[in-house]
Amino acid sequence: MWWKSLSCRLLVRFLNHGVVASSKPLPGRNAAAAAQVRSSARGYYNTGRAAEPGPGSAAHVRVVDLRSDTVTKPGPAMRRAMAEAEVGDDVMGEDPTVNELQKMTADLFGMEAALFVPSGTMGNLIAVMVHCRERGDEMIVGDRCHIHIYEQGSSAQLAGVHSTTVTTLPDGTFDLDQLESKIRHGYPDPHYPRSRLICLENTHNIQGGRVLPLPFLKEVRALADQHGLSVHMDGARVMNAAVAQGVPPSTILQHTHTVSACLSKGLGTPVGSMLAGPKDFIARAIRCRKALGGGMRQSGILAAAGKLALQDMVERLVEDHHNAKTFAQALLDCQSPLFSVDMAAVETNILRFRLPDPRLGPHEFCARMAQVGEGEEAALGQGIQVLMFPYFENSVRAVWHHGISAEDTQLAIQKMQFVASQHLKEKVRAQ
Ligand SMILES: Cc1ncc(COP(=O)(O)O)c(C=O)c1O
Repeated sequence: MWWKSLSCRLLVRFLNHGVVASSKPLPGRNAAAAAQVRSSARGYYNTGRAAEPGPGSAAHVRVVDLRSDTVTKPGPAMRRAMAEAEVGDDVMGEDPTVNELQKMTADLFGMEAALFVPSGTMGNLIAVMVHCRERGDEMIVGDRCHIHIYEQGSSAQLAGVHSTTVTTLPDGTFDLDQLESKIRHGYPDPHYPRSRLICLENTHNIQGGRVLPLPFLKEVRALADQHGLSVHMDGARVMNAAVAQGVPPSTILQHTHTVSACLSKGLGTPVGSMLAGPKDFIARAIRCRKALGGGMRQSGILAAAGKLALQDMVERLVEDHHNAKTFAQALLDCQSPLFSVDMAAVETNILRFRLPDPRLGPHEFCARMAQVGEGEEAALGQGIQVLMFPYFENSVRAVWHHGISAEDTQLAIQKMQFVASQHLKEKVRAQ
């Protein structure tokens, strides 16, 4: 079984960004990259295209896109698998490739059944709809989780489900006493909603790709069982968690009732997420998916990419984790008061580091990383545009993925060092 060999090898190896304002006008070819970071019109993920080197500079400019692991593009093998996929009408349950992907996922996750859905957002919403079936049911979520912050309140907007929050701790966990205190005991007294669901996020996106410890999961599940609640995991990056912990995903997911896991992030497919859980949950999920417009027809073309991703793309996540750590270590090695990074918190492919010096805050830093600065080509031998996002609490978020090699990471390091040294020179000149 591929997973076993993976585990063995692993044992051995191993935006709130608003508008980015550059204080300086950006000359010519820098404009595209800087605009890239600046034009976060949709807030969370910058939806602009990766910066193209301007005319006449193609040979000298390299772009390292660390905005998100959603920017990945399918490679030739994945495209071939998609082109050759056997398909059928999946709304009728007749697409053999989708059926194979669902079976494969259920087995891998240790769940009874799985369902291919168009996105992680839809997977989470369906889970909420199935777990919380009565209008006014309530779920408990972390105050920094994706479901609460970045999914437009769809659980309230579309499912009629109320949320109560617990504080998300820096490692993505909650205080269990606080969690317990949020469980309502008033039902059926008409004043109160009824607690139904606890949502976890693993790895935790806003907290910088943190992996939820297995003992924490066990405790949350015990609490949920004690009070008759369900546990859903937003496992958009649960495969990163599994790789980081060196365990199969089923070891993590034994503590949850359901999970939504993205194929289109680090695993590199163009579209799709897997929702998994008990058979009766998935039977209801199929109904919700259809109501939400997520019933797809010959979606085997997309599922073929998912199958290949689960077979071939999991093992390589370790490279992303390694590259993220390499960059973080380079920030530390800079010994610059500009950067503050907690190495212990760099567990997977997402890195968050702080910029405590107000003279070079996250917005300015990201703008400078995205432009080719004066003297840069002479100093570095080429222009390097590194795309990252300014993030919460004076931090920057950078995400590694299969489009970023070890060499790209070294380029990003060179660029970061260049930006830091330029800033230092400006400081000295200003004194
Ligand atoms: C933790 C987490 N959950 C859910 C999602 C939503 O996934 P999708 O973009 O496929 O809707 C994301 C997307 O970035 C995410 O980071």
